[in-house]
Amino acid sequence: MTSFPNKRLRRLRRNEKIRDFFQEVRLSTKDFICPMFVQENLKSNVNSDSMPDIQRLAPSNVVNEANSIADLKIPAIMLFGIPAKKDGDGTSAFAEDGVVQKAISDIRKNLGEKIVIMTDVCLCQYTSAGHCGLVKDDEVDNDSSIQTLAKIAVSQAKAGVDFVSPSAMMDGQVRAIREALDDAGFTDVGIMSHSAKHRSSLYSPFRDMADCAPKFGDRKSYQLPYTNPREAMREVEADINEGVDIVMIKPALAYLDIIAETKRKFHVPVSAYSVSGEYALVKAASKQGWINELDVVTEILTGIKRAGADMIVTYFSKMIAPSLK
Ligand code: PBG
Ligand code: ZN
Repeated sequence: MTSFPNKRLRRLRRNEKIRDFFQEVRLSTKDFICPMFVQENLKSNVNSDSMPDIQRLAPSNVVNEANSIADLKIPAIMLFGIPAKKDGDGTSAFAEDGVVQKAISDIRKNLGEKIVIMTDVCLCQYTSAGHCGLVKDDEVDNDSSIQTLAKIAVSQAKAGVDFVSPSAMMDGQVRAIREALDDAGFTDVGIMSHSAKHRSSLYSPFRDMADCAPKFGDRKSYQLPYTNPREAMREVEADINEGVDIVMIKPALAYLDIIAETKRKFHVPVSAYSVSGEYALVKAASKQGWINELDVVTEILTGIKRAGADMIVTYFSKMIAPSLK
């Protein structure tokens, strides 16, 4: 008889059936939020140089695309708009017939509740300066910006959105949006805030895709420094106090500690945004034949879920979905 506990962990790895039986974290299509880019006045979809296999959609193709995403059992989309006109106030962001507002109402009209509609709420695609807030005296002005963000959210609510997702990193944006939605009678429209959105170099393919790079300066005066994990927790806490429904950590892969810490500390749904640069790294390596794309994507997204993400915004949603059925 052995006098020591005979720990044989390989017992659980002996064959496929046994390994599957003991699997702790399971990736599912139900974890995903699929981003969609729609460009005003576009007649047909265009490919993007910076994000291979992701297209800017023509407004006329949006319903079909949302439908095929829903058919893959992906529960939600995140709409980003690329407007025809930019100006100082970002007026096309809250226009009743704006590119996103029309996309929302088309999808809602044609698909009903077949898919959860989420929308980005920001100003960088819509303003001439390309900043996430309004520029006053060469500075990004917080308090006028949150009023405009609230206006954008209400215009999207009127079109039929389910969840708005402010990504501007302005202080008080969640409160301003929550109050405006409630005042307009949209108490059922939820908020998924980009709560801990870091100032990352992994956003550049997206900026190209969405045409939203800042024309001067950078985003360091509003996005979080990635050196400050406790400040990230204060951002998450502030959003919870302002009435957020889902908090988001962004980017995902280099921020797994922040995801895990958020999940441990708070009791709200946690989402993670696997951003365009994370997509680009994998795409480039797999195009070279250096890695197996599906295997690497499965491993990375499982890691993000294992860290604590309840939902993952990922450009790989459609690619990986068939393998998860
Ligand atoms: C802008 C916005 C950005 C992303 C989402 N919304 C870029 C930025 O802040 O400059 C990045 C997403 C990605 O890289 O996939 N509000
Ligand atoms: Zn922005």
